[in-house]
Amino acid sequence: MVEQIPGKVDMDKLVSLCKRRGYIFPSSEIYGGLGACYDYGPLGVELKNNVKKAWWKAVVQERDDMVGLDASILMHPQVWVASGHVEGFADPLVDCKQCKQRWRADQVRDGKCPACGGELTEPRMFNLMFKTFVGPVEDEASVVYLRPETAQGIFVNFPNVLNATRKKLPFGIAQIGKSFRNEITTGNFIFRMREFEQMEIEYFVKPGTDERWFKHWVGERFNWYINLGIKKDNLRLRHHSKDELAHYALDCYDIEYFFPMGWSELEGVANRTDFDLKQHSKFSGKDLSYFDEETKERFVPYVIEPSAGVDRSVLAFLADAYDEEKDKEGLRVVLRLHYDLAPVKVAVLPLSRNEKLIPLSKKIYDSLRRCWMVQYDDAQSIGRRYRRQDEVGTPFCVTIDFQSLEDNMVTIRERDKMRQIRVPIESLTETLEAKLSGEPLDVLPPGGKKWLGFEE
Ligand code: GAP
Repeated sequence: MVEQIPGKVDMDKLVSLCKRRGYIFPSSEIYGGLGACYDYGPLGVELKNNVKKAWWKAVVQERDDMVGLDASILMHPQVWVASGHVEGFADPLVDCKQCKQRWRADQVRDGKCPACGGELTEPRMFNLMFKTFVGPVEDEASVVYLRPETAQGIFVNFPNVLNATRKKLPFGIAQIGKSFRNEITTGNFIFRMREFEQMEIEYFVKPGTDERWFKHWVGERFNWYINLGIKKDNLRLRHHSKDELAHYALDCYDIEYFFPMGWSELEGVANRTDFDLKQHSKFSGKDLSYFDEETKERFVPYVIEPSAGVDRSVLAFLADAYDEEKDKEGLRVVLRLHYDLAPVKVAVLPLSRNEKLIPLSKKIYDSLRRCWMVQYDDAQSIGRRYRRQDEVGTPFCVTIDFQSLEDNMVTIRERDKMRQIRVPIESLTETLEAKLSGEPLDVLPPGGKKWLGFEE
């Protein structure tokens, strides 16, 4: 089920573009699909990888107080007892006695089935963790869970990372990985899935400094989305009231995005206190405290947790980038994705399939592919090919025409305002590199000719 806010990007159009152009497909579609599971196609996997790369660069590569981790999905079952998930990671579920559909009790109004108005059963708790078994025997002793969050892999590795890196507080551990939740209410495309990816940070601090670091991370994470092109009007912070805080949290802000179906959580930033480390200490019998060499104090660190969804970020970036504008040929659909996120950075387009143009076009294609994801397209008119690249968000097209064979120059055409510039082939790579790294378009490359249609 897809909900829709009037005036926002049409979710159906976005879903259709994603399928048509190879961003996102329903999982196992030829068998009728599997609820709330999706596959990323050739462009989708590039976009998703670019989102993860941008996150890793901002939170690990560019900070000296952060390190990375990649923990296993299957963990010792006691982890989930200690974390509270076995006991409490559950939603109240009701069944319709008439049509047999299941609903989350907190999402049902008037106590009637939203589908047929039928009578509902009393709520019962339904644990959202997927269960499976390790080894050949399927009994209670061999039950394990598919992790419902990546966070616990970080907590249980706190002493390992501490010993291996000799990091001093404050420092954090970042992880990107799959999580699984047997969600009852799904829908809204990749917003709520049963298998999804998270980008999580557990940032360990001295108790008493936690409020300062909490504010720091709320700001950092909010600005990350803005720096990657999300419009400020579509992003907001929502402070959790005391009664909606998770059992482990002292404080929490949601970073919300104005999705096609309304304002919803994109990322949560929580102050998890020393809850998790203390719980794992208690259940494992291992000491998870920290010794501060300077003050000679021993304490259990507090933890600030910015927890983002990869798929929700992908949805937000796609929705925010989607644009339609009328032009003389009808409607131009453009994905104005930030250059760092665009799946294909450059398209190489010979003006026609004329055999004289092919060798030079292929040579340029081969040399640019060493630097970026590049597409080669020679099918149909040049106008249609520009439109195809606009629709998937390719920032630059390089056109090779007959004059290129004479003057060794090619045309670069940019996506957003469709301006064009003619540059010598020898400075093509460095020009594209500079523009893709954010150099303003009015800076001319060596030997380049003025942008056509450049007005500012
Ligand atoms: N470790 C804390 C934690 O997991 P959460 O609010 O349950 O907190 C964090 O999840 C983020 O993970 C959410 O803000 C969202 O972006 C993403 N997420 C959670 N459940 C999801 C689902 N079923 N499908 C897609 N993304 C999900």
